Amino acid sequence: MNASDCGDGIEKLIRPELAGFVGYVGGKSLEKLAVDMPPEGIIKLDANENPYGCSPRVGPALASCPSLNVYPDLGQAELKELLAGYAGVSAERIVAGSGSNQLIDLISRLFVDSGDEVINLVPTFDMFRFSTQAQGGTLVEVARDEDFAVSARAVRAAINKRTKLIFLANPNSPTGNITPQKAIIEIAETGRPLVVDEAYYEFSGETVVPLVDQYPNLMVLRTFSKWAGLAGLRLGYGIFPPKLAKYLLAIKVPYNVSVAALVAVRESLQDIDYLRGRVRAIVDERERLFRELKRFDWLKPFPSRANFIFCKISNGRADELQRRLQDRGIVVRYFSQPLLRDSVRISVGKPEDSDALIRALQEIGEEINV
Ligand SMILES: Cc1ncc(COP(=O)(O)O)c(C=O)c1O
Repeated sequence: MNASDCGDGIEKLIRPELAGFVGYVGGKSLEKLAVDMPPEGIIKLDANENPYGCSPRVGPALASCPSLNVYPDLGQAELKELLAGYAGVSAERIVAGSGSNQLIDLISRLFVDSGDEVINLVPTFDMFRFSTQAQGGTLVEVARDEDFAVSARAVRAAINKRTKLIFLANPNSPTGNITPQKAIIEIAETGRPLVVDEAYYEFSGETVVPLVDQYPNLMVLRTFSKWAGLAGLRLGYGIFPPKLAKYLLAIKVPYNVSVAALVAVRESLQDIDYLRGRVRAIVDERERLFRELKRFDWLKPFPSRANFIFCKISNGRADELQRRLQDRGIVVRYFSQPLLRDSVRISVGKPEDSDALIRALQEIGEEINV
């Protein structure tokens, strides 16, 4: 048997619903970008990372951690206590993951089987599609309006007996807008499992966590990637009805959160005033950048409650804009999907990053004659 026979044979054994599966497309890693650019010259505004990094307490604590050779606690006891204290809920509600992405996947694993339907409020974060399709579920897309607002009525109309999950990112990514609590409650009232992904909560200040006691179908996801600057270390968590938390803990892979992530959470929560100060700086900078972007008549920035700004390009040359920015060392995310045509998402960096971006946009505007 030669190698290609072996490969063909194996491919036939793959679950048929995964034929042609499209993987998640995210921002570029620094390693990839460094192939074309010197890493110190890159202004990375493509993945909503924290430009100030993590708490300065994290590095030394990791360097002196005595137990990196020992597996973490399977049941996440200390981690759950810490996260519960921060979120203001009881520890029996918490499940932690290696990023909130892992929890999206885990929730999908718990609820979605082949043929089940999952409601997705598009355009939105691609992980909801990814995890639904990886489970063999069927995505039911409910379109947001031209300002990316969610219609609770449209969500209710899309529900049928096969509906297993509803995903709602709040603020939404990549558009940055908030869904008002009234609409979320209307959706929660349906009783269907509802995941509200609050990855950007610290920037928006809006949360449905106080509603979890009232709605046993409500799950809220959070992350330390953005506000605490720990995207590289991977720590996300969810606030679940206690019964569901038990199931999720049972079906997660063992040791899914590292000892390093536990150390980083401990230190971040000890340094919360510092981190909140950085969040405030990012929010202030977001508002300044929004005002600056509005001055370009060929850009349409959308108001954002997260740490990024979504912009439509009026003359439809977003790919070219992305390329020309990258030639100048500035990396933004460009979208070309049907509902996100001609648009870029710009993460909020430090003031000097915005200044460089604005200068580059002025030059590019002249060059491409917009
Ligand atoms: C809405 C949303 N949820 C979750 C995530 C993933 O966060 P984590 O790094 O915790 O996996 C992101 C990251 O971009 C996001 O935009």
